[in-house]
Amino acid sequence: MNDKICLVTGANSGIGKVTAKVLAAGGVTVIMVCRNRDKGEAARHEIVGKTRNENVELMIADFSDLRQVRRLAAEVKAKYSRLHTLVNNAGAYNGKRMITADGYEMTFAVNHLGYFLLTVELLDLLKSSAPARIVNVASEAHRNSHINFDDLNLENGYSGWKAYAQSKLANVLFTYKLASKLEGTGATANCMHPGFVGTNIFNHVKGIGGKIVRLITPFMRTPEKGADTVIWLASSPEVEGITGRYFIDRKDRQSNQESYNVAIASRLWEVSEEMIRAAVG
Ligand SMILES: NC(=O)c1ccc[n+]([C@@H]2O[C@H](COP(=O)([O-])OP(=O)(O)OC[C@H]3O[C@@H](n4cnc5c(N)ncnc54)[C@H](OP(=O)(O)O)[C@@H]3O)[C@@H](O)[C@H]2O)c1
Repeated sequence: MNDKICLVTGANSGIGKVTAKVLAAGGVTVIMVCRNRDKGEAARHEIVGKTRNENVELMIADFSDLRQVRRLAAEVKAKYSRLHTLVNNAGAYNGKRMITADGYEMTFAVNHLGYFLLTVELLDLLKSSAPARIVNVASEAHRNSHINFDDLNLENGYSGWKAYAQSKLANVLFTYKLASKLEGTGATANCMHPGFVGTNIFNHVKGIGGKIVRLITPFMRTPEKGADTVIWLASSPEVEGITGRYFIDRKDRQSNQESYNVAIASRLWEVSEEMIRAAVG
């Protein structure tokens, strides 16, 4: 992996931070993407100190702002002529409904449109660096969800879980459609569930659910264990050429029925493009 360049989003915390650290320890050049410079610098400093790999760079983008996602992709392309692995990991759970500056529901915007736009903008670079890999961190939360095209912004009956689950189903649908578009290019796309991991993501769960999550957090998986399948998909020769799959604990698993619906995946792709076009051209 020594000559490889990998980009990891949400790399200052939880699963993303462990992924960046382990890839850096393997000698990879790592581009850490974080939204907060101080938190990102602290994580970068720790990773360089622990791995002795100086080739760890920090780039800043808030995925709730599509202009920033596009600017990030431009920065990557200006600086790097190759990119071998993209790990879309930055994600959030929002107990309260919020709207981004682009006018979209925050969870869908960050967890899906962020993955989508960054990937699409970096696709030519990834393809020209093939063999290349895209790893989308999804979740079992997708299991009982479906994409409500009539109300993607969840104006009616918002709940944090509903928004989160829909965004994670979008990650799976996006992965499968992307994999089909990438056939024959030498670039692969897979998604995965990391288990229930004791990270910061559920800090914003409200009410009794929040209390329960905080009580059980110490008994959840460690971020190291949660990142294992991400790192394996990002770097192991065992999955070279494997594409369009959903993994849990390094095992190929069935995702929910709707995720295999190619018409829904195509519609989601088109709607995502339209939403981005409407917001940032
Ligand atoms: N933990 C679990 O049990 C679990 C289960 C299934 C799937 N996942 C998925 O795993 C991924 C990583 O989550 P985690 O559990 O490691 O949680 P985490 O510790 O909260 O890490 C999430 C990362 O995403 C970043 N992020 C959030 N909103 C962002 C935004 N608007 N722009 C840019 N970055 C943003 C966070 O930055 P800040 O530190 O600045 O907030 C942080 O670096 C997520 O996609 C999540 O859906 C987690």
